Amino acid sequence: MKIRNINQKDSKDLFEWRNNYESRKMSFGTKKITLEEHEKWFKESIKSPNKNFYIGEYNGIKIGVCRFEFDKKKNISETSININPDERGKGYGKKLLINAIKTYLKNKSCILIAKIKEDNIISLQLFNSAGFLVTKKVQGTIYMELKNKLIFKKVDSKDALTLYDLLKKRNYSISHEVLPDFKNHKKFVEKNPYLYWYILSLNGKAIGTFYIKDDNSIGINTNEPTKEIIKEILDFILDNFSPKKGIPSEIPNYFFINVSPNNRLLKDIVSSLGYIPLQVSYKIIRS
Ligand SMILES: CC(C)(COP(=O)(O)OP(=O)(O)OC[C@H]1O[C@@H](n2cnc3c(N)ncnc32)[C@H](O)[C@@H]1OP(=O)(O)O)[C@@H](O)C(=O)NCCC(=O)NCCS
Repeated sequence: MKIRNINQKDSKDLFEWRNNYESRKMSFGTKKITLEEHEKWFKESIKSPNKNFYIGEYNGIKIGVCRFEFDKKKNISETSININPDERGKGYGKKLLINAIKTYLKNKSCILIAKIKEDNIISLQLFNSAGFLVTKKVQGTIYMELKNKLIFKKVDSKDALTLYDLLKKRNYSISHEVLPDFKNHKKFVEKNPYLYWYILSLNGKAIGTFYIKDDNSIGINTNEPTKEIIKEILDFILDNFSPKKGIPSEIPNYFFINVSPNNRLLKDIVSSLGYIPLQVSYKIIRS
């Protein structure tokens, strides 16, 4: 989906989308607005330094608009979205919201909130799937805030496609030299050879996985490792699981993490968190 800034030519679409019955029902000002009122508001809004509007386009069709209104004093931006009534229910809302947030936060560091009517179940679900959590409820209005928090979800067979996409994007791999085909990958997911296996999502997007095997080894796969993310994963593991009892000369009585030797970034992060390297493993085959 293409995300672009709004321009004068979008005024008519915004007017129509705004006056759509469902949009009015779900917005806080429910009455129909006149073209004159709209044009005045639009002209002022696109000039305002504290308002940002992004239009989502897909195959040349305008999908909808995502709006951010910045309150400088509080360093908070209120986020709202309105999808072209002809394009609703096709999964575009989630894509537009996530991509518009990404674009907006490239140039701004602020808290994002949303105010949603309690009966707007689709919107509540949409913001939640983009990483917003409920902070309060006041007289039928739900307040949500974007939490840059990792969400940990146990892998199940429905995750095969998401895991395959992650696998395709993986830069470093210890055990896969070639990408398995989807059928074999699906079988692997269904069999789930790990003791624990989780998908990690950040702001509604799957960004990696971790697993724990019954020899107490941990594997972390993410192409976006940061110190904060790796710390959160390792803390989650230490808070929620205990290592299996060790077996002398076979299984240590602590967790350990395997890192691909090419994955310098992850090695540096794990070291910077104060964890001590144990050994380097070499592959021994006849050359
Ligand atoms: C609310 C709105 C933004 C959602 O956008 P959308 O493109 O229609 O929604 P999506 O197709 O991306 O779906 C978002 C989620 O809601 C679910 N959903 C969509 N339509 C649904 C319906 N009619 N019934 C139940 N669930 C529905 C989807 O399954 C999806 O959930 P998932 O992420 O768990 O799969 C859009 O319908 C809209 O513009 N409504 C009017 C204005 C409005 O309410 N704005 C929000 C105020 S901030």
